[in-house]
Amino acid sequence: MKIHDFKRKKVQQSKISMLTCYDYPSACIVAESQIDCVLVGDSVAMAVHGHKSTIMATMEMMILHTESVARGLHQQFLVSDLPFLCHRVSQADTTQNVRKLLQAGAHAVKIEGADPDVCQTIRHLVTAGIPVMGHIGLTPQSVHQLGGYKVQGKADEQAALLLQQARDLETAGCFALVIECVPQALAKAITQALSIPTIGIGAGVETDGQVLVWHDLLGLQTEFNPRFVKKFAQGKETLLAGINSYAEHVQQASFPTLEHSF
Ligand code: KIV
Repeated sequence: MKIHDFKRKKVQQSKISMLTCYDYPSACIVAESQIDCVLVGDSVAMAVHGHKSTIMATMEMMILHTESVARGLHQQFLVSDLPFLCHRVSQADTTQNVRKLLQAGAHAVKIEGADPDVCQTIRHLVTAGIPVMGHIGLTPQSVHQLGGYKVQGKADEQAALLLQQARDLETAGCFALVIECVPQALAKAITQALSIPTIGIGAGVETDGQVLVWHDLLGLQTEFNPRFVKKFAQGKETLLAGINSYAEHVQQASFPTLEHSF
């Protein structure tokens, strides 16, 4: 998938599938899949590094994981998150941060928020030839300001603000927009109001695409079970069964057999 396919898919009402990915072997699996777009999300700080929030993601982390994922992909469009506050520095430093992610192999960056400062930054980056994906609704980098991981845009005033933010991001030049944790009706209204595609997570089925986190989709973690996550595989059980089978084989001296010995 290339950048122009995002708008084409919206026009043709063909849904966009996006999945997070953080390492080379996983990217090699995604490379063989039907997934359209891959996100090296700052969720890596939580899903892979065990931190409590995405606030702990750093440029170094994002560069390392973007490089690893880029090595495994061939055809999917690769988006990388600008981590906490890395677009709230000077324009020159923001540009350098974006340069590092694109040189690591990303085709585009995703930026959280839609206030006038962010929109100005996005305009600057788009003018410089950088595709930017926006992100509104529950923006996890602002979790402390939002007072927790809560559904956004339930009240009319908040919903109107989110719709305006979506329009501002489109005007600023975003090629697509992630909408996280908002009521389905609001996500639908935003999707209909924009000519760029919306990609939802916890935003219902009416968006132009969906995104899920690798470990959630594959059932690799069981501690965090938000309503919007569907486990499409029982990854933890499958891995645990394999690991325990290995441990038992070692215990019983039934591995290695002659077949695995020299
Ligand atoms: O970091 C991330 O994984 C994300 C998605 C949940 C959209 O931003």
